[in-house]
Amino acid sequence: MKPIEIAKNIYWVGVVDWNIRDFHGYSTYQGTTYNSYLIMDEKITLIDTAKKEFADELLANIAMIVDPKKIDYVVSNHTEMDHSGSLPRIMHRIGEDKPLYCSKMGHKNLAKHFPQKWNYQPVENGGELSLGKRTLTFMETRMLHWPDSMFTYVNEDKILFSSDGFGQHYAGPARFDDEIGDAVMPHAKKYFANILLLYSPLILKLVNKIKEMGLTIDMICPDHGIIWRKDPSKIINAYVEWSTQKPKRKAVVVYDTMWHSTETMAEAIVSALGEEGVEAVPMHLRNCHRSDIMTEILDAGAVIIGSPTLKNGLFPTVSDFLTYMKGLKPLNKVGAAFGSYGWSGEAVKLVRKELEQMKFNVIDPGVKIQYVPAEKDIQACYALGRKIAGALPD
Ligand code: FEO
Repeated sequence: MKPIEIAKNIYWVGVVDWNIRDFHGYSTYQGTTYNSYLIMDEKITLIDTAKKEFADELLANIAMIVDPKKIDYVVSNHTEMDHSGSLPRIMHRIGEDKPLYCSKMGHKNLAKHFPQKWNYQPVENGGELSLGKRTLTFMETRMLHWPDSMFTYVNEDKILFSSDGFGQHYAGPARFDDEIGDAVMPHAKKYFANILLLYSPLILKLVNKIKEMGLTIDMICPDHGIIWRKDPSKIINAYVEWSTQKPKRKAVVVYDTMWHSTETMAEAIVSALGEEGVEAVPMHLRNCHRSDIMTEILDAGAVIIGSPTLKNGLFPTVSDFLTYMKGLKPLNKVGAAFGSYGWSGEAVKLVRKELEQMKFNVIDPGVKIQYVPAEKDIQACYALGRKIAGALPD
């Protein structure tokens, strides 16, 4: 895709990865983009690069605006290799001695990724860099989502280059929020739920800090997906809502099943929840990707996990999902467990223990049944569903 002028003399020169479907374990059904930006000022500046495989395309895009050798400065907002992988090719082409601006942690982390002795210029939080007509301000955003992460703000244009923050894995013809409308929000929500959820308290602090600073933001340019130019406050407000994790009257029933017994139990729980006016979402672990399940869990008030007992333990997909969810540290959830077993029946207890460790409000010992659920077992599942409904907000 050709470069686009996003503001006077500021260009999107990024690349579109149409075909990626798995981004380190996150499903990307609509690909992604690696956004890179070129500021044409007295000091020509490149902000972030792209995955290694896209270095030539990125250089070709830059060359449509200016000879890459004329780039004076490079800014690395984030070390992860989807944004730094092209640095060796870029620095080689523009000149290995050109200043490379990054946070102090960025300096440490880039040096652990690349052996080249680049001209690193670590910046202070709040530090400024004059490009001529424009001045950049650097804002450290540690652990959003790496220790090295930072934002770069163009004081005169009021543009925030926000690294992964406010991004989405979306590769379509649209480059701006006004070209896609609300269709971008599920992508933004999924990104938040799977990449940023565990840093919710830090995000709330950051948004408050930006408000206190009185920073005007006319445009947010993330490193993935569309640029927020029509209404940047829409995504900022969404981040506040998602970070707050206020539970809805919604329950996600996550399960796997061997011979449909745990599935029958899941269906009974979902029915009971529905009868009580709860938005109930059944998600079979071999039909739903873990990253889609986490997206549903983001605003749910309850998570109910069903696992058959296999070889005295959890079913493998359930273990996988619990490990994934635990890392993302969701807050304010009611939890419960259920499942069928043949002769030992440890799974329900093991799920319950995991949910307790995640600080879920586990409101019931759980329902476990042997082999195939009888009518009384189905009624026990209905009772569990009703009990969960009673623990959710109206
Ligand atoms: Fe898009 Fe954390 O890299």
